[in-house]
Amino acid sequence: MIQAAVPWWANAIFYQVYPRSFADTNGDGVGDLDGVVAHLDHLSRLGIDAIWLNPVMVSPMADHGYDVADPRDVDPLFGGLAALERLIADAHARGIRITMDLVPNHTSSKHVWFQAALAADPGSPARERYIFRDGLGVDGAAPPNNWVSVFGGPAWTRVTEADGSPGQWYLHLFDAEQPDLNWENPEVFDDLEKTLRFWLDRGVDGFRIDVAHGMAKPPGLPDMTNPDLEMLTLDDDDPRFNHDGVHEIHRGIRSVLDDYPHAVTIGEIWVFENEDFAKYLRPDELHMGFNFRLVRAEFEATSIREAIENALAAASLADASPTWTLSNHDVEREVSRYGDGATGLARARAMAMVMLALPGAMFLYNGEELGLPNVELPDGALQDPVWERSGHTERGRDGCRVPIPWAGDAPPFGFSTNPDTWLPMPPDWSALTVERQLADPDSTLAFFRTILQLRRTSFHFTEYDVEWLQLRDDALAFVSGGVLCVVNTGTTALPLPDGELLAVSAPLVGGELAPDAAAWIATD
Ligand code: NOJ
Repeated sequence: MIQAAVPWWANAIFYQVYPRSFADTNGDGVGDLDGVVAHLDHLSRLGIDAIWLNPVMVSPMADHGYDVADPRDVDPLFGGLAALERLIADAHARGIRITMDLVPNHTSSKHVWFQAALAADPGSPARERYIFRDGLGVDGAAPPNNWVSVFGGPAWTRVTEADGSPGQWYLHLFDAEQPDLNWENPEVFDDLEKTLRFWLDRGVDGFRIDVAHGMAKPPGLPDMTNPDLEMLTLDDDDPRFNHDGVHEIHRGIRSVLDDYPHAVTIGEIWVFENEDFAKYLRPDELHMGFNFRLVRAEFEATSIREAIENALAAASLADASPTWTLSNHDVEREVSRYGDGATGLARARAMAMVMLALPGAMFLYNGEELGLPNVELPDGALQDPVWERSGHTERGRDGCRVPIPWAGDAPPFGFSTNPDTWLPMPPDWSALTVERQLADPDSTLAFFRTILQLRRTSFHFTEYDVEWLQLRDDALAFVSGGVLCVVNTGTTALPLPDGELLAVSAPLVGGELAPDAAAWIATD
């Protein structure tokens, strides 16, 4: 049963804003926080409960903000601290909460700590804030172990010592501009505590915690048995992640959060086993964890059902609220994952109805409500460090980060006054602008507004579970919150059970549910 006094986040709709790509108010071609303020009407009309802002702290932007040089200030690119304060005030006035990204696993290589570490000697306290090691082999010329960066290439970079000699190596699980912190050093937590309180005291309503399964490293840094892992692969034998020591760190974070009972933490937890996932959600650790099973599911009844069952089971092991997401700034947009074009869009709309019928917290990614596809960008436009680090074999994540089209018939579609947007916008997005879709009752935006509204008014979630019905092998049907959700993953129309039809993702065909479509039917 869902507890009587449920916290605000338990069934909340979070809307992820990728600030670089949301809206630009100063004409530099990059989105900023005043751009979010300017479009709060759009978010209010959608009826969201909270915004999750990707990192806006001071950063050289080697990984677009996930390389933080000053964790307690907002980058001027996004409008500085004053712009964030305006956003918090205006969002709160509309009943929208603001959650921020927190990046505790690593800093930017431009952080004062790392600059001090580079200037200091091996073994010095300044180096002890990061993970520096001597190399192996003749003259220490080989990296200390075989770990690979999640973005490709070795996870170690060699520094030049003050006397000009080839020196130690430092660990970076991501880009070389993102050195991993040494969480064994108490200074690291003390500083994070300052950061947490800094933002919470300014009215922030919680944090999405980046690489929440990282931070702690195993003693001796043993080699990986499988260094050929692809990005975002789940492998529980991977020594780079999910070391048991991480839980002590989360307990520390929670002890601070408990001073701010309105605030939530949601961890990015890429672990495979449910038991391991649930450990992060113990009562003295994170409030919620991202579950990525639905992102990985094919548009196929069994695959979707397994993902849902698995995510429900994982959350229930910890008595936590389940979380659901179909896309974010790291994965190909779902319209393209499901086949692109009309089929991809139809399936994405159907899957939005599946997701929004589930009990728990939802995470929508900006542009999902417009049905945006991934964009094939030219090589020269690519900015994700993955492109360089993979030796141009992986194109990276820029294709899901293209700026949002707001209005007009040509790029930059009201995103900016500057035609030179940080990623180019496809000219054929004129039909996908917010302006165009607001004027069309059959648009994907109108559809999202309807189903988000129905989630609030027609669903009554009393438990974190669903009841499965068997209609056909190539269909999925479940009752949740008093509503029956039916999805047709097959190729022929599906007769619908009796009941009041609340919503459909595509027009019925001869009174039946079309392939690649979903329906909600009232059950009482
Ligand atoms: C996960 C974030 O979602 C991703 O965008 C980032 O590159 C890595 N963590 C490193 O911080």
